[in-house]
Amino acid sequence: MAEIRIRNTNERISGEENVKSFLEQQEVLYEHWNPGQLPASLQEKFILSDEEKQQILDTFDSEIRDLAGRRGYKTWDLIALSDATPNLNELLKKFEQVHTHTEDEVRAITAGKGIFIIKGSEDVGYFDVELEAGDVISVPENKAHFFTLMENRKIVAVRLFIETEGWIAHPYDDPSFQKA
Ligand SMILES: [Fe+2]
Repeated sequence: MAEIRIRNTNERISGEENVKSFLEQQEVLYEHWNPGQLPASLQEKFILSDEEKQQILDTFDSEIRDLAGRRGYKTWDLIALSDATPNLNELLKKFEQVHTHTEDEVRAITAGKGIFIIKGSEDVGYFDVELEAGDVISVPENKAHFFTLMENRKIVAVRLFIETEGWIAHPYDDPSFQKA
């Protein structure tokens, strides 16, 4: 289950209802899928063949289509990142820049962990959303954020798009942002 850390106060928010209501106030969609639907062999696998990627997408097909139907996503794919990913460090450096895009950013974590750092309302400031398998998040369009991995440096996630061009990152230069 996702957990929140508010950067200015170090306050942590946990428990599904608390996390959900905090994210709702910040206009961030948060839902949950059952990651136990995946065969055990795929729950901790981060180097995936095309067949295995398809198997994961097939496992969550009804959840994906339900979300897409409600929110207008037209295409989706699956990404896997781990230390086996070529140039992972460079990739993460690129990821770890605050940015915005004109389309929302949807990720459904099917294995591993990841973290979104999001610029919240004035009174809250930046907060972290720590995600694990089963967590589904959508960062709204034009909301400053970035994504990175957690200590285990492993994730598999479904990405959903309205238009594949819509989520091209625009740098968001924010002098008030402090890296943790
Ligand atoms: Fe983004």
